[in-house]
Amino acid sequence: MTGKRYKIAIIGTGFVGLATGAGLAELGNEVICADVNKDKIDSLNNGYLPIYEDGLPELINKNKKLGRISFTTDIALAVKASDIIFVCVGTPSEENGEVDLSQIESATVSIGEVLDRYKIIAVKSTIPIGTLDLMEDILEREGKVKGRDYDLAVVPEFLREGRAVYDFFNPTRIVIGTDKESVDKILTEIFLPLNAPIVHTSPITAQVIKYASNAFLAARISFINEIADICDHIGANVNEVIEGMKYDKRIGGDYFSPGIGFGGPCLIKDLSGFIKMVEKYGYQANYLRSILDKNNHQIKYFINKLKKLLGGLLKDKIIGVLGLTFKPNTNDVRNSLAIEIIKELKKNGANIKAYDPKGLEEAKKYLDGIILCDDIYKAIEGVDALIILTAWEEFKEIDLERLKSQMKSPIILDGVNLLNPKRVKNYGFIYEGIGVK
Ligand SMILES: NC(=O)c1ccc[n+]([C@@H]2O[C@H](COP(=O)([O-])OP(=O)(O)OC[C@H]3O[C@@H](n4cnc5c(N)ncnc54)[C@H](O)[C@@H]3O)[C@@H](O)[C@H]2O)c1
Repeated sequence: MTGKRYKIAIIGTGFVGLATGAGLAELGNEVICADVNKDKIDSLNNGYLPIYEDGLPELINKNKKLGRISFTTDIALAVKASDIIFVCVGTPSEENGEVDLSQIESATVSIGEVLDRYKIIAVKSTIPIGTLDLMEDILEREGKVKGRDYDLAVVPEFLREGRAVYDFFNPTRIVIGTDKESVDKILTEIFLPLNAPIVHTSPITAQVIKYASNAFLAARISFINEIADICDHIGANVNEVIEGMKYDKRIGGDYFSPGIGFGGPCLIKDLSGFIKMVEKYGYQANYLRSILDKNNHQIKYFINKLKKLLGGLLKDKIIGVLGLTFKPNTNDVRNSLAIEIIKELKKNGANIKAYDPKGLEEAKKYLDGIILCDDIYKAIEGVDALIILTAWEEFKEIDLERLKSQMKSPIILDGVNLLNPKRVKNYGFIYEGIGVK
């Protein structure tokens, strides 16, 4: 898989920056990854990956040995050495749901200060409309002229955490947002070896494609959660409802998992950012708002379910929690609903013991006053109920006999519909999922 090779700078080495940098190096490009976080860069230079992502350490080590990828805190060095700059910094939410563009601003200042010859600056970060104008203003203040010193483009990222390497090499599509043919040509050349459909469009449309895609994924989850909650109320089984729906190709079965709702670093913040952005253009996105409202409601719904199973009281109950990351196969707990649920349970006076295969270290940053266990069975010893909050495969293998003998009372509330209800109940557990009993 080789195309035309370029000198590439990656600004921001988080999930997106690392996966993009490693992937582009594997395609034969010369990549320098730069980040302001010295600890991150030090650990990358020492051969340690600050994130858990299947296949990524191997890919980085291989390309490091071949001299195709390096890591630095010296943004100027990375910018000067490159023909193309991919901006992959974070765009988190502000308190009010608007997008915090401070990382984009500081990255643009760093680029503008040292831009010494024409380069393409392609933004992979998820950014609201208006961000390119902001970047242009910053670059203009640094004396840089659009078209002469640089051009901006939007190349949104669609990778899934936990499958980032696979997704880099097997993208569902590449979206290239630029109004300039020469920029489109170069960016197309870079991604051509991936043999994916390429959508060529304007920067604004590229931004909307990213926001609309995440909004749609969020909508599927809120929709199926609505159906699951209805199933709970009328005694239907949501797993069988999905089975009966998914064969219709217009519907399909992907991304249709009932549970505690969507969390993580993207969906909530992107949906909020999208809603806030269009409000500025005078549009009230009521449908999008309802997707978010349903998601907020789902945590309360889950906690009420637990309360009912425990006879109406959470105070002084000991709850065993399996799963802290926002989804399996990652150590990322940013915006994880598991963390939100634990905080809420604690507020209600419950005591928590929790286990996660990869997320314990990260979870420590967000949680205190709970017992974090390095083993499933330590987390369920003596608990009044077990709740499952992340769909790790490992939890499917749990020894139900042992579980029952160690728990104080045999109550399982499965927030991700991971276990087989019939099998669990055969062991004498009181079991509930979301839309299944
Ligand atoms: N994580 C995902 O699954 C995912 C998927 C698609 C799109 N995105 C989008 O991609 C962007 C990056 O996401 P992420 O999860 O990789 O973020 P992240 O927070 O993991 O990483 C961002 C990195 O940028 C660095 N940084 C901040 N300011 C900098 C600066 N001025 N110069 C250099 N480095 C700087 C930070 O230190 C950090 O390491 C976001 O806009 C996000 O919405 C993320």
